[in-house]
Amino acid sequence: MNLAAEYMGMKLKNPIIVASSGLTNSAEAVLKCAEAGAGAVVLKSLFEEQIQVETRAIEQTQVDSWHPEAFEYVSRMVKDLGPTHYVSLVKKAKEAVSIPVIASLNCISNDWWPDYAARIADAGADAIELNMAIMPTDIQRSTQDIEATYLGIVDEVKKRVSIPVAVKIGPYFTSLTRFASQLDDHGVAGLVLFNRFYQIDIDIERLQIKPGSRMSSPRELSVPLRWVSILAGKFDCDLVGATGIHEGVGVIKHLLAGAAAVQLCTTLYLNGLEKIGEILNDMSAWMNTKGFDSIDDFRGRLSQERSPVPETYERLQYIKAIVGIE
Ligand SMILES: Cc1cc2nc3c(=O)[nH]c(=O)nc-3n(C[C@H](O)[C@H](O)[C@H](O)COP(=O)(O)O)c2cc1C
Repeated sequence: MNLAAEYMGMKLKNPIIVASSGLTNSAEAVLKCAEAGAGAVVLKSLFEEQIQVETRAIEQTQVDSWHPEAFEYVSRMVKDLGPTHYVSLVKKAKEAVSIPVIASLNCISNDWWPDYAARIADAGADAIELNMAIMPTDIQRSTQDIEATYLGIVDEVKKRVSIPVAVKIGPYFTSLTRFASQLDDHGVAGLVLFNRFYQIDIDIERLQIKPGSRMSSPRELSVPLRWVSILAGKFDCDLVGATGIHEGVGVIKHLLAGAAAVQLCTTLYLNGLEKIGEILNDMSAWMNTKGFDSIDDFRGRLSQERSPVPETYERLQYIKAIVGIE
């Protein structure tokens, strides 16, 4: 069975990418992912704050405005995985494996990235994923301003690197289709739908905010799946399904919706890296029963673009679900 996939011009032996996380934070960890059968890996993100602290470029006034715990935490993070260490992580990971290694930068402004993106590209990364999350919490900040910041970061990075650049975003945009097409216009080669942001919860006994679960649930598959199916085929950049994909069936659904590849994280934490082999076996078995020889035989078959009635697709499904008659 041919499970080969292509993502941002890179040949993948299969469409399973290990998502940026603790599973990819060292060359040894990356080697384990490759040995388990992953098609590619995205390294743990380098955070903008780590660069600010390491370069000491952060102004004292800014340091003072940070929560002390936040500053101490980031300072500790720099020791473990600061920019200098990150460049060496890219080099070592590339030496350790032959599958594509995608570096990940977590950005919230375009002040710091160009130089680091270039250093990371020089270190041999096959591509860069910009993990961008600008929380729209500032009442003064308009949609246009926030979206322009994303596009500005992309432009700055694209000026400095020739390797493909992907963007990993969350689902909260006013007009995601328009914004995604702008990212495409700005030269983004891959769009990861979606990141799963830090979740909060409330402890009603202690009257405190507490962290929500770091792990996703398979129920979270449906929002990314909907958007992959809506956006697939509308522009050039490749789409990657992410969040809530725990089993082979989730991978197959995303490919049918039009994704070029998928990213897995929680399921690998919960079930171990051997889950990759299990998912690949499930995909092969399904393809066999359906008579598909390669992923291209079915990829995108259920995207909205290929629906005979694309304009009514979403609304019709909604009406069917609400009215209850077929
Ligand atoms: C422990 C942990 C660490 C993570 N670290 C990062 C990170 O550094 N950069 C990033 O872009 N995403 C990070 N993520 C998010 C994952 O890459 C992934 O997008 C998210 O978990 C959703 O996928 P899943 O449903 O397969 O878990 C992390 C997730 C977990 C659970």
